[in-house]
Amino acid sequence: MDVCSFVQFNHKGRTPFLIGLLVGFTICNFVYFPTYFPTYLGERKPRPPSYANMSKRRTQQLELSATSVPGTVAGPTIPPGPVHPTPFNITDPLSGYVNVLKDKDPFKRHCSVCALVSTSGHVLNYTAGEEIDQAECVIRMNHAPVSGFEKHVGTRTTVRVATHTNFEEAWREITHIISTENRSSLIVWGPDRTMRTDGKGETYNYLLNLTKASTDVEFYMLTPERMTYSHKLFDNETALPGRREIWLSTGWFTMVLATEMCDRIKVYGMSNGDNCSRREIWLSTGWFTMVLATEMCDRIKVYGMSNGDNCRDPNAYPAVYHYYDKGRGKECDEYNRMEKLKKQTHRFFAEKKVFGRWSKYNNITFHFPTWTPKE
Ligand SMILES: *[C@@H]1O[C@H](CO)[C@@H](O)[C@H](O)[C@H]1NC(C)=O
Ligand SMILES: *[C@@H]1O[C@H](CO)[C@@H](O)[C@H](O)[C@H]1NC(C)=O
Ligand SMILES: *[C@@H]1O[C@H](CO)[C@@H](O)[C@H](O)[C@H]1NC(C)=O
Ligand SMILES: *[C@@H]1O[C@H](CO)[C@@H](O)[C@H](O)[C@H]1NC(C)=O
Ligand SMILES: *[C@@H]1O[C@H](CO)[C@@H](O)[C@H](O)[C@H]1NC(C)=O
Ligand SMILES: *[C@@H]1O[C@H](CO)[C@@H](O)[C@H](O)[C@H]1NC(C)=O
Ligand SMILES: *[C@@H]1O[C@H](CO)[C@@H](O)[C@H](O)[C@H]1NC(C)=O
Ligand SMILES: *[C@@H]1O[C@H](CO)[C@@H](O)[C@H](O)[C@H]1NC(C)=O
Repeated sequence: MDVCSFVQFNHKGRTPFLIGLLVGFTICNFVYFPTYFPTYLGERKPRPPSYANMSKRRTQQLELSATSVPGTVAGPTIPPGPVHPTPFNITDPLSGYVNVLKDKDPFKRHCSVCALVSTSGHVLNYTAGEEIDQAECVIRMNHAPVSGFEKHVGTRTTVRVATHTNFEEAWREITHIISTENRSSLIVWGPDRTMRTDGKGETYNYLLNLTKASTDVEFYMLTPERMTYSHKLFDNETALPGRREIWLSTGWFTMVLATEMCDRIKVYGMSNGDNCSRREIWLSTGWFTMVLATEMCDRIKVYGMSNGDNCRDPNAYPAVYHYYDKGRGKECDEYNRMEKLKKQTHRFFAEKKVFGRWSKYNNITFHFPTWTPKE
């Protein structure tokens, strides 16, 4: 077990903090805690929504933050509280999606109505295809196929957001799909390690090859700044301000004691915690896709995304994890399994809760299954 897993293990309190100072997990404790302890129940209670046109709203927000004092009561025409999600760039919401080919224009697209089609098996419980196709823009994720599922998911694709992972397998599928879709855009997200453009980024290199081979598709990727923003946004939205529990470690008390009793303290084996700050919670493609939708669409109709409540209902439709991959098991089983993992996992329940919150600030509605956020 490496130091970081040891630290994470210790958080459960199953082992006493014995060798704290020696293995140097003190700092790791503080670094790691904020990423996994939050309980997702936002304390920020959005006040009644004003569904003003999004860009107008953001402009008002900009004016508000420049003139008002926090805590003062907002007038009826001024949007209350911070906007969710916090814009990446308030004056240029779509910045940070650059073309894979450096000399080409960055991603720009504005749609009045978007249909965001989930990859969840819930879509199979409905025949929403025709309705989906009526949206001005249709947004899909990863290698979710259209052919064979038209009556459930429609036929058109305007934008597809895809992850850097499962590359070989997913790309074959994506390449096939995009070649049949007319002039759609593919936006790929991934960490710098694999998206770097200096020749060492595996995913980027592959994308570059695809770009040359597919003239009907525009390829975009997220800038490192936008990746950082996406993670920060998740941390912000899932954190409970003021209610974070920080446990002090034995190392902390030992160090305090040492400063009191020793003239000179030589600490052995304590890392500075940098190695523990790697990402332990993976964002889903759905996260990136929803952020993008709030930036490019005036209205977002989400299809096939449940709020997770069905996972507590034994009579609910037993949706598979992905509508196109029956071998992957049931959605709720996957969600619950991941919820129990401490790291290298998704937090789907938390993401849905946040999407519910965002729906109060943007015109987002959930269809098939239909649900309205409680918070
Ligand atoms: C969302 O947008 C649609 C179409 O512009 C509009 O009819 C509807 O009233 C909006 N919903 C809300 C809650 O503002
Ligand atoms: C939203 O506001 C912008 C700028 O004020 C405007 O160009 C756009 O047409 C508006 N969209 C809708 C759906 O009202
Ligand atoms: C936002 O975008 C505008 C236009 O692209 C740019 O000039 C500005 O520097 C950006 N702001 C931030 C904070 O990145
Ligand atoms: C692509 O365009 C061709 C010709 O315009 C059309 O026949 C076909 O239906 C289109 N395919 C999709 C998926 O929109
Ligand atoms: C890109 O294409 C070239 C030539 O077809 C090939 O040699 C290279 O291995 C490909 N690179 C990747 C990352 O697929
Ligand atoms: C995160 O929260 C901090 C503090 O409230 C804020 O300054 C920052 O803009 C937020 N960033 C994002 C991406 O939400
Ligand atoms: C932290 O990670 C770096 C790079 O992986 C490694 O070189 C270094 O030895 C690690 N430090 C500790 C204290 O584990
Ligand atoms: C959707 O699921 C419900 C509950 O399992 C079931 O009663 C209904 O027949 C399903 N509808 C379709 C179209 O599959």
